[in-house]
Amino acid sequence: MHNFWQTLSRPVLVLAPMAEITDPAFRSIIAKYGKPDVLWTEFVSADGLYHTREIHKIPDADNPLMKDLFYEPGEHPIVAQLFSAQPNMIEYASRLVTELGFDGVDINMGCPYRAIEKQGAGASLMKKPELARALIQSAKKGTQGRIPVSVKTRIGYAHNDLSTWLPELLKEDPALITVHARTRQELSNVPARWEHVREAVEIRDKLSNKEKVLIFGNGDVDSAVQARTLAMETGADGVMIGRGILGNPWLFSEKIPTLEEKLEVLIEHSKAFDKLCAHKSFALLKRHFKSYVTDFKGAKELRVELFACENIAEAVEKLKVECLKLKAQNKS
Ligand SMILES: Cc1cc2nc3c(=O)[nH]c(=O)nc-3n(C[C@H](O)[C@H](O)[C@H](O)COP(=O)(O)O)c2cc1C
Repeated sequence: MHNFWQTLSRPVLVLAPMAEITDPAFRSIIAKYGKPDVLWTEFVSADGLYHTREIHKIPDADNPLMKDLFYEPGEHPIVAQLFSAQPNMIEYASRLVTELGFDGVDINMGCPYRAIEKQGAGASLMKKPELARALIQSAKKGTQGRIPVSVKTRIGYAHNDLSTWLPELLKEDPALITVHARTRQELSNVPARWEHVREAVEIRDKLSNKEKVLIFGNGDVDSAVQARTLAMETGADGVMIGRGILGNPWLFSEKIPTLEEKLEVLIEHSKAFDKLCAHKSFALLKRHFKSYVTDFKGAKELRVELFACENIAEAVEKLKVECLKLKAQNKS
């Protein structure tokens, strides 16, 4: 198997999966302006992929949910994240993403959304370690050893359960375990507790033959400098960054953009959304307007104007006018 995780220099800095945020449009912008070592897709329902194909009796290529697994060649290495509580669904979807050319498959074992937990998937898997292990085994079966399988989880459900939960996952030898340093019950309401990332590394190190399983930390990181410091302090092999990238696709390249550059890239982002995410609601792009258009004189007024737009073309026109104004100001 080509385990690309072992070929990357440490600390590995990666983009977190964020549903309805890190869609193909935003990822294309991130890959262009500040590519992390590895990108992740938004999570995708393995059951959804399977059932949509069965119900409509269509080949995989015609499955509308395949749009969520679209990526561009410039995004490699890219990992597809799946969620499910059904080993056979995970096996099917892992085979599919292997065939689609993804570099890795990741199983979500940390999502607190009610709709996901109701299916027995996401964070609720922390209460069922045997099923969690079966899902890793099934993913490995699906990939047939061609791409590495990883897990993204939290430190526990109601309490820090790393001392029991992590060894269960380690028994299945995933290539990587990313630890979001909060419990499920904490959601994102308390600061991430990075001392538990260090604890996860120590647990891994104490178990013989587990040194090859990478441990990444995640939670509240908003710069590459901070990520490297935290990796050094905790011994983590890598750091995953989520919300810090909002409105700042330069995060991983550590470039500080001018306001004009920011707005120009927002135009590019909007056009990419129009092209690659036409099946998605304009409201999702508006969330990005909020992230980019902030912290400058006139930002609030521009946001109000952009939110009032009825379509992407209208918003792009407004942004172009704003860029022209800035250019004129900079000249004078
Ligand atoms: C809007 C949003 C969507 C998310 N979607 C996913 C997801 O699809 N899969 C996943 O494993 N985590 C998801 N997460 C959690 C993030 O990957 C990450 O663990 C969390 O935001 C903490 O990291 P951060 O402080 O760097 O953002 C999501 C978080 C947000 C804010």
